Amino acid sequence: MNTNTNTKQKEWVFSDQRLQKLRQQYEIYTPEDFKVWKILFERQMPNLPKAASKAYLEGVEQVKFTADKIANFDELNQVLAKSTGWEVQVVPGLIDDDLFFGLLNNRRFPSSTWLRTMEQLDYFEEPDMFHDAFAHMPLLTNQPYVDFLENLSGIALKHIDNPWAIQLLSRIYWFTIEFGLINEEGELKIYGAGILSSAGETKFSLSNEPIHLAYDVRKILNQEYSKNRFQDKYFVIDSYEQLYESLPEIEAVLEEMLLEKRQ
Ligand SMILES: [Fe+2]
Repeated sequence: MNTNTNTKQKEWVFSDQRLQKLRQQYEIYTPEDFKVWKILFERQMPNLPKAASKAYLEGVEQVKFTADKIANFDELNQVLAKSTGWEVQVVPGLIDDDLFFGLLNNRRFPSSTWLRTMEQLDYFEEPDMFHDAFAHMPLLTNQPYVDFLENLSGIALKHIDNPWAIQLLSRIYWFTIEFGLINEEGELKIYGAGILSSAGETKFSLSNEPIHLAYDVRKILNQEYSKNRFQDKYFVIDSYEQLYESLPEIEAVLEEMLLEKRQ
């Protein structure tokens, strides 16, 4: 299921200067880093057996994340190589859209390697590796999920010079990969990483306070989002296959909206 990858993208992304020599230096994590990982892990993991999607929980088992050990990317990559063939790529924090989607389209998940400090436990400006690793990586073991991610990024690369198209596609990414919910046997569960790395939003997103809407490509493409508060709306998928199967519709509605903008 690798429909949108083209060889030109593969050539530049692996030799891109912005990524040269970046790797996780496990030996430089401090006792405070281990403490931060442990506190965040122990605060959030007990909430998840009831709240998180089965695919996420199975992924946690596979990647063997524990409270006492900061995620080790070399070990993680060995697990991912055997499941979906994805890899973690260390990046210097937030990266440009072309690099972000270029990596994803080549089955590399961009991740930072730094952890927030004890003073930043509840508030931090940029996603740190607790978010990138703990919340995102277990789902990289799920084939339809990663196929969706790869091919959504393929669509983004086709429109990488059009900021409006990228803004629209970011809404899809936001309401699925970061803040998506899934219906599993009649119960709402979380698969969005932005929720999985927040104890507060885990509780809130499943409560009766926000609006829960069925997954709807057109609605999402027309839905703005806010970064600095809990979402007031969450979109609920029925399966990860549904995400993958919605890619042609994403592309079609996107084209339609781009055309409207030009008229
Ligand atoms: Fe994220």
